[in-house]
Amino acid sequence: ADALKIGIAGLGTVGAALVRILQERRDMLATTCGRPIEVVAVTARDKSRDRGIDLSATTWFADAASLAADADIDVFVELMGGSGDPAYSAVKAALSRGVHVVTANKALLAAHGIELAGIAEEHGALLNYEAAVAGGIPVIKALRESLTGNTISRVYGIMNGTCNYILTKMEKEGLSFEACLKEAQRLGYAEADPAFDIEGNDTAHKLSILTSLAFGTAIAADDIYLEGITNISIDDINAAADLGYRIKLLGVAQRTESGIEQRVHPTMVPLDSVIAQVDGVTNAVAIESDILGELLMVGPGAGGNATASAVLGDIADIAKSRPGAQTVPAFGRPVTALLPYTRAQ
Ligand code: NDP
Ligand code: HSE
Repeated sequence: ADALKIGIAGLGTVGAALVRILQERRDMLATTCGRPIEVVAVTARDKSRDRGIDLSATTWFADAASLAADADIDVFVELMGGSGDPAYSAVKAALSRGVHVVTANKALLAAHGIELAGIAEEHGALLNYEAAVAGGIPVIKALRESLTGNTISRVYGIMNGTCNYILTKMEKEGLSFEACLKEAQRLGYAEADPAFDIEGNDTAHKLSILTSLAFGTAIAADDIYLEGITNISIDDINAAADLGYRIKLLGVAQRTESGIEQRVHPTMVPLDSVIAQVDGVTNAVAIESDILGELLMVGPGAGGNATASAVLGDIADIAKSRPGAQTVPAFGRPVTALLPYTRAQ
């Protein structure tokens, strides 16, 4: 069968891990997907940087815009980050010519997800973004596909690996906030601007995507009560422990009688709860629904391999799909069927 040709914009922590895995598992993926997956085009900011990956069989494009618009590809993989350009225009350009898009960019989706989903639908392209929320945990697939038919009442959890890593290290190793953040950056967990992590914006971006999927509404990333972990001290952590609690940065979205409530803030969770045991870069997402009941998913929330695993799953889904086959809308239902977002009073 013809190879699935992919172009990748962004070869940092996630992009480089993805290229390496695609090369190492080429034969295995070709068997699983029924066709090989080939990286034919790439771009990043600095062409001369050694990324520890073999790019000899790929064409280097000068920028993401030209790769998205001109490369002979079936899938455009956006791993640059940022809600604006070049990511926004490049994703739009790819979808507008019917090229499928896979992205890990929650900032982009929180700002433009529904518009992009509309463009994807209009042009028969897929927009897959499993890696955008909770790293390697398949929470998008759970909400978008597996729980279809359930009425969901609440989605909440630990959705930022950097913050959970910092809180864990501060408590268990007595390290300073700054030292823990530096280590999270070194390990490739943090955003390019780590303020997005520690001030809670990254959790808010992810929560807004889950809210849309859970409640079938338009994304409302600005309607989120937001408080990060920058004011949490080791004294706060110790005081919480003395009372039988652990401090976790939670994102919570719930359906109320008057509308939807979304909030992100440090929360005291009882030491004997499952969520209190979630340590380090691990994330946890709980989904409460009427038919299934409570689903709790726990797993690696950030880092090159964990994130690349989710991106790879999205690419493999496309490789396995066949022209004319039924496709899953980006936000679980056609964009025209999304409900207006109503804020809880
Ligand atoms: P990095 O900062 O490690 O890598 C970003 C890559 O994008 C780099 O290769 C960089 O080029 C390239 N890039 C940045 N700006 C431009 C631009 N203007 N034009 C062309 N290329 C550009 O980020 P990550 O790999 O960590 O993250 C990528 C995406 O994945 C982000 O959206 C992030 O939020 C998301 N994500 C990350 C996770 C993680 O654990 N790291 C987890 C889940 C999602 P160069 O290398 O030349 O500087
Ligand atoms: N910076 C993010 C985090 C990456 O720490 O969770 C994963 O989305």
